[in-house]
Amino acid sequence: MPHPVLSALDLSSTESGTYLGNGEWSGDTSAGVLQPVNPTDGEVLAQVRATSAADYETVIGRAQEAFKVWRTTPAPRRGEAVRLCADALRRNKDALGSLVALEMGKSKPEGDGEVQEMIDIGEFAVGLSRQLYGLTMHSERPGHRMYEQWHPIGLVGIISAFNFPVAVWAWNAFVAAACGDICIWKPSPKTPLSAIASMKICNQALKEGGFPDIFFLINDAGTDLAQTFVDDRRIPLISFTGSTKVGRQVGERVAKRMGRSLLELGGNNAIIVDQTADLKLAIPAIVFGAVGTCGQRCTSTRRLFVHASIYDSVVEKLVAGYRQVEQRIGDPTDAANLMGPLNSADAVQAYLDTIEKAKAAGGTVASGGRALDDRKGHFVLPTLITGLANDAEVVQTETFAPILYVMKFADLDEALAMQNDVPQGLSSAIFTTDLRASERFLSAWGSDCGIANVNIGTSGAEIGGAFGGEKETGGGRESGSDAWKAYMRRQTNTINWSDAMPLAQGIKFDL
Ligand code: UN1
Repeated sequence: MPHPVLSALDLSSTESGTYLGNGEWSGDTSAGVLQPVNPTDGEVLAQVRATSAADYETVIGRAQEAFKVWRTTPAPRRGEAVRLCADALRRNKDALGSLVALEMGKSKPEGDGEVQEMIDIGEFAVGLSRQLYGLTMHSERPGHRMYEQWHPIGLVGIISAFNFPVAVWAWNAFVAAACGDICIWKPSPKTPLSAIASMKICNQALKEGGFPDIFFLINDAGTDLAQTFVDDRRIPLISFTGSTKVGRQVGERVAKRMGRSLLELGGNNAIIVDQTADLKLAIPAIVFGAVGTCGQRCTSTRRLFVHASIYDSVVEKLVAGYRQVEQRIGDPTDAANLMGPLNSADAVQAYLDTIEKAKAAGGTVASGGRALDDRKGHFVLPTLITGLANDAEVVQTETFAPILYVMKFADLDEALAMQNDVPQGLSSAIFTTDLRASERFLSAWGSDCGIANVNIGTSGAEIGGAFGGEKETGGGRESGSDAWKAYMRRQTNTINWSDAMPLAQGIKFDL
C-alpha cells in the first residue's frame, strides 16, 4: 500500500522515473531503481525506475521534435500553456505540498510555500510571455535599422536539488517554456516522487489544454546518465542547482563543449545585527533563517555577526527561541511542527562531524548539538555555536544543516569584511535602524552577495527578483527580473532599407 500522501496524487509504490512524451511513461526496468526514503522514519517510500540509455535517446529525440513546434508557437500562447500548469498546481497545492514535506522533510507550511512559489513563477512567466523585449539601436548608417531579438535557445536540461524538489524546476521550466524552450528535468535521486507528481500534474494540464509535450523527465540511479546529460551537445543550456563541488564539475564539463550553464550552488549566508537593530524583527528572522527547512536552504543563515554591545543579550534570546523550536520538532507533514528531520542519514553524519570539528576548533555549543536518537528518522537539534573566528574551517564551509555560528564585531567595517570573507556569495542581510549602516551595506563596497537584504533574513527570496549569487555560488541567476535572458539566444539584426551600400566604421571599398 502506498503512503496516503502518495495515493492522494495517484502515485503508487512503483513508479516510472521517465516521461517519454506522447503520454507515455517508460516501462524499461533495465536501469535499476531509485528508492526515495522518508526522512521521518527511514522507510523506503516507493521504487522509482531509473532512465535507461535507450529511453534517454527517445526523450532527447522527442524533445528535439517538440522544440521545432514550440519555437514557432507565439510566446503569449506559450504563456497560456504555463498558465494552465500554474492553475493545476494551485488545485493540487495541498497534496503536492504534503508530498514535498513527506519526501524532503521540510515542514508542511514550507512544502505548501514551495508549491506556492511554483504557482507564482508560473504567473510571472505568463506575463513574461508578452514581455520578451529586445532593444532597438540607432544605426550609424543612413537608411538602416538595428535591433535585437530574443529567440528560444532549444533544449534546457534542469538538474535540481533535494532541498527544493519542485520549485527549482518551476523557476527554470516555466520561464524557459514561455521563452520557447523544451525542458528535460533530472531531479535529485532523493526526491523523485515530488518530481513525478509535478510532471503528472503539469502534463495533464497541458494535454487537456491541447498543448504538446514541453516537459520531459529523466531519473538517474547512479551518475552515468547525469554525465551523459551534462555532456550532451544537443542541450545548449544546463541549469544546475546543488553543491559547489558538483556544480564545479558541471560548469567545467559544459564549458568544455561550449555550452551554457546556469549554476546555483552553495551559500554561506550571514546576518549582521548592529547596535541599533530592532531585535523583535531580528530574532525571529535569524531563527527562521537558521532553522527553517532544517538548515537545508542554500539561503539558510549560517553565520551571525552581532555588535559586541548587544552580543550577550542576542545570544540569550536566540537560545530561548531555539528552546521553543525544540518543542516543535517532528513529523513535517504535521503542520504544528516547525522543524522536520534532515533529509538523509548522511546529512545527520555531516551535522555531527561538523559539530565535533567546531568543538575541536575551540567553539562552544550554546544550544543543541546532538541528533535525536530517541526516535526513528533523521532528526537533530538546531544548533548555536559561539566562540569561533570567521576564518575557522568549519565556518568557511557550508554544512547543509541547522548550525549557526555566532560571532562578535566592534564596527561595521569589520563585520562587512568578515561577511564577505568566505568563498561563497549568495545571500546576506543586515538588521539596523541606522540609514548610514544600511546604505553602506548595500553599496558597491558593502555586501558582495547576489542577495543583500535590510531588516529581512537571508532566506525566503521572492520569485520576482533574479535569484543567485557570486563567487563559488556560481554566478547564475534564475526566476524573476531579466533572468529569462539565460534561456534565450540574443540576435542582433541590421537591415538596410536604403538604396546604397555604406560600410560601417566609414570604410570605403569602391569596386
Ligand atoms: C535554495 O535553497 O535552493 O530564498 C533556494 C529562499 C528560496 C530559494 C532557496 N526562495 O529561501
